[in-house]
Amino acid sequence: MAKLFVFTIVLLLISGIIAEDDEKLSHDQDFSDGEEKVVAYTSPILSGFAYLAEHFDDQDSFSRNWIKSEAKKEGIDEEIAKYDGTWAIEEPIRSVQNGDLGLVLKSTARHAAISSLLNKPFVFNDKPLIVQYEVYLQEGQECGGAYLKLLTEDSNGKIDLKKFHDKTPYTIMFGPDKCGNDHKLHFIFRHKNPLNGTIEEKHCKKPKDRLEDFFKDKLPHLYTLIVRPDNTFTIKIDNKIINEGSLLDDFQPPVNPPLEIEDPNDKQPEDWDDREKIPDPSKVKPDDWDEDAPAQIVDENDKMPDDWLEDEPINIPNPDSVKPDDWDIEIDGEWEPPEIANPKCENAPGCGPYKQKLIDNPRFKGKWRAPLINNVNYKGKWKPRLIHNPDYFNDVNPFKMMPIRAIGFELWSISGNILFDNLIITDDEATAKKWADDTFEIRRNKIARESWSVWNQLVNFTSENPWIWAVYIIVAFIPVLLIVYCCCFSTQDSMEDTYPTKEFDNGNDVDPLDDESPGDVLPETPEQSPRENEAAPESENDVDSDNINETDQVVESEEKDENLGDTDGPRRRKPNKE
Ligand SMILES: *[C@@H]1O[C@H](CO)[C@@H](O)[C@H](O)[C@H]1NC(C)=O
Repeated sequence: MAKLFVFTIVLLLISGIIAEDDEKLSHDQDFSDGEEKVVAYTSPILSGFAYLAEHFDDQDSFSRNWIKSEAKKEGIDEEIAKYDGTWAIEEPIRSVQNGDLGLVLKSTARHAAISSLLNKPFVFNDKPLIVQYEVYLQEGQECGGAYLKLLTEDSNGKIDLKKFHDKTPYTIMFGPDKCGNDHKLHFIFRHKNPLNGTIEEKHCKKPKDRLEDFFKDKLPHLYTLIVRPDNTFTIKIDNKIINEGSLLDDFQPPVNPPLEIEDPNDKQPEDWDDREKIPDPSKVKPDDWDEDAPAQIVDENDKMPDDWLEDEPINIPNPDSVKPDDWDIEIDGEWEPPEIANPKCENAPGCGPYKQKLIDNPRFKGKWRAPLINNVNYKGKWKPRLIHNPDYFNDVNPFKMMPIRAIGFELWSISGNILFDNLIITDDEATAKKWADDTFEIRRNKIARESWSVWNQLVNFTSENPWIWAVYIIVAFIPVLLIVYCCCFSTQDSMEDTYPTKEFDNGNDVDPLDDESPGDVLPETPEQSPRENEAAPESENDVDSDNINETDQVVESEEKDENLGDTDGPRRRKPNKE
């Protein structure tokens, strides 16, 4: 087949060029482009002060500073209440840099909690709080959190990290969280009511950007929260601003309650006339208005068609029917043949007594109603009066949150192998920026280089060898040539073309001709995966199954409804139904 021949030639040509290009560039690399050089990984060095800066590269320091929780979750079955999820310090699955380790949540569908004290408590004063860390959802995320909690220093300054659990008081919760189609980036702070000391969660408004990709692209992402003494905040992902605003204006429920509220004791007075319009009392029903006239009357002009068979019944006893032999008049009663439609009516307009058609009654008027006029006594819609809100307060500086003593992850996730890295808590934006430049940005560049290197080589080669454009143009025209060839010359080839040709069948070793019915073999798409019909991940049955983390096959729509009614709160995932 000629077209196959042409195609193969072109493929060979292209692969030859790329191979040559590869060789050329690997020679060039060391000289031309300093950026391209592979630099050995070194752990980042902190450039300023931090309350905590953790790169997780040092196992010893990790074991000294991080405490795994041994707590139990309150109010659920003993068996699954334990914080027995597993953590590891290890390299990422992909984009490995020798010696660059991270904290990895290994286990799936188990409660896991781990935490570490800050070097010194963070007290909200005149400096901003910056929290920043990398999250690498190496297997994507089906349902689970990857957020952190900044734990509140309690009154006696002590905190027992071994007992860290879901109810441990926190000051701020920050980070990604997802279940089904509900993608979140939490920023919750706990605000103390200055009147009575009650603590209430304040949830940040949602970011406008779509967050889906951060959960499914299986790439590391950098999450940054900045809260400033002027009560503004900024949230960034990968150094791009995703959300910003004010602690006073952009949280639900609002920090400060309204000054006035509707008086719950106020009632609508009995004589309050809230009818805006009333029937005109000066109008009476006209004498000729017949309320009883029917809506429809018989059409006296309607005549029975001439060929209407008035004397023929619509149904007749079936003449072909015979009384069954075992019919017992005593038990079954008198036998009557079943009825069938009268065959004589088949070609007539109708049979039986004729009924004249109905038409609309011109005299029909219906019930008389007086026209509406404005009500002179109308007082407007009644509303309870406003009174001073007894719970009112005005906290002008919600930035002054409860001091932070420790940081912790308290998580539950369907997808495993969540890697955390390069965590920093500081009061200086430049320090956090430098820390990210030395860690996240290097990794991001490495990933970008890896995924674009083939493309870049092609681009470089093209700019150095403009003649290659001729090849590109030929390649671009091949489909056109093939189509023209097929349409005009291939009539006697058509039988051969019915089956896919093996050479075109990328990576598939099975000869399609061996298959009895090649047309029936459909590629398995994620939508058709068997997981689609499984129970939602929060259901009882799924909790301990180990094959849950096949996140590639998540079918999001199935789980859509699960958390729609949810508040933005830290989701208390309880695998058993409570
Ligand atoms: C404190 O006040 C809030 C209303 O502002 C109220 O909801 C809460 O129940 C109060 N707490 C106590 C302990 O009285």
